[in-house]
Amino acid sequence: MELPGVNSNSSRNTPEIQKSAEKEGGDPCKIYEMEQVREFASFVSNNKLSVKTKITSQEFQEADRMEGGVSGAMKLRYEGHLKIIKPQVLTKVFSENLKALTSSGKHISHANVSESDDSFAHFPRKELLGWHIARIFALDVPDTELVEIETELGESKYASAQIFLTDAVSMINTKVEPYKIDLNSVILTFLFHLFTENIDGHTGNILLIPYEGEDDEEDLVEYKVIPIDYGLIYPRHDSIYPKEFSLLKKGFFHSFKTKKIHIHRYLKPLVEKLENALNAEFCNLMTSQEKQLYHRNLTGLQRILGGEESSLSLNGFLDTFVAHLMMELKDEH
Ligand SMILES: Nc1ncnc2c1ncn2[C@@H]1O[C@H](COP(=O)(O)OP(=O)(O)O)[C@@H](O)[C@H]1O
Ligand SMILES: [Mg+2]
Repeated sequence: MELPGVNSNSSRNTPEIQKSAEKEGGDPCKIYEMEQVREFASFVSNNKLSVKTKITSQEFQEADRMEGGVSGAMKLRYEGHLKIIKPQVLTKVFSENLKALTSSGKHISHANVSESDDSFAHFPRKELLGWHIARIFALDVPDTELVEIETELGESKYASAQIFLTDAVSMINTKVEPYKIDLNSVILTFLFHLFTENIDGHTGNILLIPYEGEDDEEDLVEYKVIPIDYGLIYPRHDSIYPKEFSLLKKGFFHSFKTKKIHIHRYLKPLVEKLENALNAEFCNLMTSQEKQLYHRNLTGLQRILGGEESSLSLNGFLDTFVAHLMMELKDEH
């Protein structure tokens, strides 16, 4: 289905449109912003992504803006649930960098670009993709969908909508002793961050919810980890190793770095599920570059599973994973 006013060839027309906007004294950036909306609308329609809910501009005006972050996350109640809505973010920086990327046709390294140009207009899609992958990792992340938001201009923007966890606390706002946190969910979150190359896995994006495990008097565990905010998974540039991964050595995971990951127990079911997921519908959400990264990182996990180690500390796992990926990258070039 083509959305009203959406021209799927529009991205090819960008320079002409910009020129005419300049001639007419308009703001060329506005045109680019519209281009981003249209380009993404084409992605939604070409990949047959399901968008069931349309939020009117009036409903959207009642949403509560969350603090922090560049994403403009909002809280809004609809269809009986409180949800976190994260709309497409349209910026000049993004437009300019996108233009440079597409017109140069060359590889752009991480050194040339900042986080900020990482497909802000695709945030909602990445949120949905991250959610699907987190579910494969058996993480209890709340249901997430893609929604349409009517703008005052009449043309729709997209947003992700995720159920708001009212009993969650963010790691950045709380001091919880590591022994009170369910290690299984820490390990799964760590593996999820590695697999999706999430460069935004700081403590603000780690939520804790009450742990409802075995009712054991001895058990000191009180919380379980839920990773949120997947807008910067699978960054567009391809030279993130090992700089960004070293972020995992600090921050939240630092306290767990010597904890052991039992390779067979964790990777056997995970690798199987990740392999099977390659035929699943959610693959429509991925760009071809993201599919490549998914494959490459799956190979990394398969190699660790097929390797000699029966267990690795989080730190050791990180180093081994990165070493496999560096080898893959060398083979590719
Ligand atoms: N599903 C959720 N349940 C509860 N709180 C959430 C949820 N998603 C986000 N939040 C809260 O909203 C804040 C902003 O959301 P986030 O996805 O991190 O957006 P940003 O890209 O702006 O950082 C988070 O730091 C967290 O405190
Ligand atoms: Mg965040």
